[in-house]
Amino acid sequence: MEFDQLIRHRRMTRAFTDEAVDRSTVDRMLDAARRGPSAGNTASIEFLVLEGKEQTARYWDTTLSSIRRESFPWPELLHAHVLIVPWVDPDAYVRRYDEPDKVRTGLGASVDAWSVPYWFVDGGAAAMTLLLAAENEGLGALLFGLFEHEDAVRAGFGVPADRRALGAIAIGHRAPARPSQSAGRARRPLATIVHRGSW
Ligand SMILES: Cc1cc2nc3c(=O)[nH]c(=O)nc-3n(C[C@H](O)[C@H](O)[C@H](O)COP(=O)(O)O)c2cc1C
Repeated sequence: MEFDQLIRHRRMTRAFTDEAVDRSTVDRMLDAARRGPSAGNTASIEFLVLEGKEQTARYWDTTLSSIRRESFPWPELLHAHVLIVPWVDPDAYVRRYDEPDKVRTGLGASVDAWSVPYWFVDGGAAAMTLLLAAENEGLGALLFGLFEHEDAVRAGFGVPADRRALGAIAIGHRAPARPSQSAGRARRPLATIVHRGSW
């Protein structure tokens, strides 16, 4: 798909059919995601990939109680064949920036030395690449928060204790859905967000 089309067509999908996504398609999307930019080329991002009903149901059982499920506004989100949770490793950035070519930055001291947590910046780039890769495959995708469930997901799927999740990405074949309230907010016109020369 042309780049311009890809950017303009991508919207979050919150309803999926049960149709499976080929393993090879999933691997292509993951391969795209690992090619995103990464501060110092630290490249710490790893992906928890859940495919098929059995694995994705474990995720939903971990994060969505039966009580909340009754009133969950996006029940067809749970049909998504694939869930990908990118995890970043803040300490890997500290170690990388303690290497000779980066040590002058002072960022090798600790995670607290970072005014901008680049692990989440890099994670966002990987997530965006996944969203665009899904669009490119003709699939729908939703980036959504783990909110208070990060520890439970970490424990439930054996993720190392020092990793942080930036969100989860559901991917699958689109089903018709009503738009979210957020999606109803118009994009701000370019002239109101661009400050040329000064703010
Ligand atoms: C960091 C981040 C977190 C988000 N979390 C959620 C979420 O928890 N649930 C949800 O339905 N949408 C979530 N979204 C999707 C946004 O609502 C959506 O991107 C926004 O409304 C713009 O719509 P579009 O992406 O379809 O263009 C999230 C998006 C981002 C970037």
